[in-house]
Amino acid sequence: TPLHFVTLLGSLRKASFNASVARALPELAPEGVSITPLGSIGDFPHYNADVQDAGFPPPVLAMAEQIRAADGVIIVTPEYNYSIPGVLKNAVDWLSRVSPQPFSGKPVAIQTASPGMIGGARAQYNLRQNMVFLDAFVLNRPEVMIGMVAGKVDPETLKFIDEPTCKFIAGQIVALATLAKKLQS
Ligand code: FNR
Repeated sequence: TPLHFVTLLGSLRKASFNASVARALPELAPEGVSITPLGSIGDFPHYNADVQDAGFPPPVLAMAEQIRAADGVIIVTPEYNYSIPGVLKNAVDWLSRVSPQPFSGKPVAIQTASPGMIGGARAQYNLRQNMVFLDAFVLNRPEVMIGMVAGKVDPETLKFIDEPTCKFIAGQIVALATLAKKLQS
């Protein structure tokens, strides 16, 4: 049976390197796996329980439904100050309050990209910790941490063009598909 994954992007920047990575994913998916982007987390207001009590913002409910309907989620995000960006944490916080909680039991893969050497590795472990509370099944390996990303994106087209990294990412999508099938069986 075919699998459908969705991508959650942690950067709002127009020329985001992480967005370039996320846009490359559909073509890197194996036979039988489709990948589509979720909406922008920039449409979420700052989390506030009073706002929640007045009614969840429609973009939050829409994204929660898309995640629930998906066979897995690929989170592609920058590292900010050795953690995840506030906008992504805000989105995770909103989504965590929706019932049924969309990440519960969901296969999740993490990808980070940075102009630095470490490729956003430190943020991955903060995000994994958040996902523990949400009871997601975060893929252990391979870990996709893309360092020196500025040289791996075409500055004109903003296309992610590094072939070895693309092969490595494709391997992670296969691993996520294997995990998703295991959890569904
Ligand atoms: C950064 N950047 C960064 N990079 C990194 O590897 N580790 C870090 O801890 C941080 N911290 C950080 C904090 C803040 C507030 C900003 C704005 C930036 C640099 C970051 O990787 C770079 O700006 C990327 O280009 C952001 O990703 P997108 O938007 O290109 O996807």
